[in-house]
Amino acid sequence: MKIIYLDHHATTPVDPRVLEAMLPYFTEHFGNAASRSHSYGSVAEEAVEKARTQVADLLSATARDVIFTSGATESINLALRGISNFYRERGNHIITCQTEHRAVLYTCQALENNGFRVTYLPVDEWGRITLDHLEAAVSKETILISIMFGNHEIGTLQDVEAIGRIAKSSGVFFHCDATQAVGCEAIDVERLGVDILSLSAHKIYGPKGTGALYVRRKNPRVRLSPILSGGGQERGHRSGTLNVPGIVGLGQACEILKTSRKTEHGQISKLRDRLKEILEQHLDGLQFNGHPEKRLAGNLSVSFADVEGHSLLPKLADTIAVSAGASCTSAIPEPSYILKAIGGAGAMAQATIRIGIGRFNSKKEIEIAGQRIVAAVRELRTAKSPQSVDCSDPASDVRH
Ligand SMILES: Cc1ncc(COP(=O)(O)O)c(C=O)c1O
Repeated sequence: MKIIYLDHHATTPVDPRVLEAMLPYFTEHFGNAASRSHSYGSVAEEAVEKARTQVADLLSATARDVIFTSGATESINLALRGISNFYRERGNHIITCQTEHRAVLYTCQALENNGFRVTYLPVDEWGRITLDHLEAAVSKETILISIMFGNHEIGTLQDVEAIGRIAKSSGVFFHCDATQAVGCEAIDVERLGVDILSLSAHKIYGPKGTGALYVRRKNPRVRLSPILSGGGQERGHRSGTLNVPGIVGLGQACEILKTSRKTEHGQISKLRDRLKEILEQHLDGLQFNGHPEKRLAGNLSVSFADVEGHSLLPKLADTIAVSAGASCTSAIPEPSYILKAIGGAGAMAQATIRIGIGRFNSKKEIEIAGQRIVAAVRELRTAKSPQSVDCSDPASDVRH
């Protein structure tokens, strides 16, 4: 039987409509979008500009504000390093939060090593920052606030609009990592007051290796020091030959979302609620992590009492693909930094799974997955003899 894929926060399958749009750009339309002297180049350039409009439309932005990158990690690096280095004379303080993706956290650490001061705001039990904390952290030296839209592990959505207001009234740029949220939440950069925003194609049924960075060009204009030197593509912001098929795929993925996001959000939330219901009906000792309402549609992060750390995943692996809520960097599995930040550092946090439901999951798959999880948890609780896990593999700590 095919393993049921419920790990859509890690990556999503390419939508067949996206693949179809991309294919001609590998073969007949293979031109370099920067080759102005012939039609191979102009065909590729037209395709890139169409995709730029498709991405901008999803964000209620203008096409000239969109830069193509290799994915959210690069977008985030360009946003954080680019702003910090450009505005270094203006101030050296950055505000972010403890539950950001490592692309943000480790970039901030690198900036700290380079003379910047970073405030890592704590979060409440649901994983939300407190707006008072944010306001109190802003100083004359602050140049950038970087807070994510939706969390990749516990699904919590931040109050992006309120953060945007605080940033605007303080004259500080606001970067938002919307990598997980862009597939399910309506994003209007004007309404939300976001100045710079990162996203990735492979989280929204597009190809891996392509992303985008929205960079506001007026009210206020955001300027960036590039992090890559070279041919000056993307108006000097991001040198390197453009990945035309990938960009076409990202554009198509955004266009599909523009028309289907709302309906899909409803369908996926229903499946998520049904899975939660199955678990609640048949198991006790459960804890659902993250905000109960303000959350990504497909996310379910659940901790099981009396189940040892990583013993659950191997039991599920032949039926469903989900991911762990713990990091496996030592002999004893530790709760992830995100679960620790919301206060779940105890035993409950150790047996945690992250479920990410997506566009192509069916009701039947959810029923099977629910039953399988219930059976596995019951078995483990009865046996009380956890399977050992090889924690020596550092790759097991990679978070998506
Ligand atoms: C919230 C968040 N930000 C950033 C990233 C990095 O995205 P990418 O894999 O496209 O570099 C991910 C995924 O791993 C993510 O979930």
